[in-house]
Amino acid sequence: MSWSGNERGSAKRKLIAWYDRNKRDMPWRRTSDPYRILLSEFMLQQTQVDTVIPYFERFTERFPDVEQLASANLDDVLKLWEGLGYYTRARNLHKAADAIVHDHNGKVPDTYEDLLELPGFGPYTSAAVASIAFDKPHAVLDGNVIRVLSRLHGINDPIDKPKTKAALQGLADEFLNASRPGDHNQAVMELGATVCRPRNPTCDCCPVESLCHAHMNGIVDQLPTRTKRKARPTRTYGTVIINHGGHVLISKRREEGLLGGLWEFANSEVSSNDGAKAVQASIASEYGIEIDSLVPFRTVKHAYTHFTAQVRAYTAEWVTGTPESSAHSSHEWVSAKDLESFAYSRIARKLVDALIKDEDAQTSLKLDAIKERPR
Ligand code: ADE
Repeated sequence: MSWSGNERGSAKRKLIAWYDRNKRDMPWRRTSDPYRILLSEFMLQQTQVDTVIPYFERFTERFPDVEQLASANLDDVLKLWEGLGYYTRARNLHKAADAIVHDHNGKVPDTYEDLLELPGFGPYTSAAVASIAFDKPHAVLDGNVIRVLSRLHGINDPIDKPKTKAALQGLADEFLNASRPGDHNQAVMELGATVCRPRNPTCDCCPVESLCHAHMNGIVDQLPTRTKRKARPTRTYGTVIINHGGHVLISKRREEGLLGGLWEFANSEVSSNDGAKAVQASIASEYGIEIDSLVPFRTVKHAYTHFTAQVRAYTAEWVTGTPESSAHSSHEWVSAKDLESFAYSRIARKLVDALIKDEDAQTSLKLDAIKERPR
């Protein structure tokens, strides 16, 4: 159901007036610095505002401008990103900063087309930065916007189909308030995040309730729709915190690929009913080292986009061999006090945190007592 010209005009006005009254205070809304706006949009992809704020503040304190980010070491960038997930964003952000400094004289490009050429910039980020930082008329389409528009127009087609996405982009383009494109885009996202939520939307607080097709037809909670997702498979891993004279082994994943550049404990995929013996054998074949005295430590789970990882962690003793593995670019034996200075995958981070709290494990690994890390 599309709107008449009058309805559309009215919806734009009501939405922007609502935003002016209700917008939440966010650090990137207090600045017109394109670098900070760009950074916020990288961080906000797939991640909620409340999670992003402390990361944004630490990041801008450490890298206050694009030159300082471009000249930083990727390891330091990843360390500041640790815990935000989707680390490709951090690697692309670092590459984009380099391109801005070297190809654009240190100035963030101010057109959608030039932004789209930068590493990690798709249609969403390019439209967000062009509109919010430079007032250019480009409409964003992210998960929140898709939900809002599907409901407003009663779109019942599955949103994971490219054709539906294209139709929604068309509706977003028509809806854009060209006199305040950046605020309009943020208003639609804000409405999706705070009012037109996936579950329990608060339609009585919605400024465009009277223009909402789904609301009029009582189908708000049925929209949007998607084609049935396959169940996420579970993969089982054995991971080992290996001790060698009070130092433990950590390995850095190769830059290309999942979790590239992050550090982790020795690990190997095993079958779901494998025990310590199988883990010991897989570590021997994948890292070229012999270990023994495996003792169960923790089991941790983490849901990635395409699978759930079930990780059985052990502590163990190194016996012989120099670690080498095809998935990693380097290996280090680190003391307890140095453990904190590396950027870890989420799972490895959970294990480091568990180790920090577990004095018995520290004793059995002969580690010097680890202090709780400052947050
Ligand atoms: N999500 C992505 N970008 C956003 C922004 N600028 N404001 C609110 N939510 C967002």
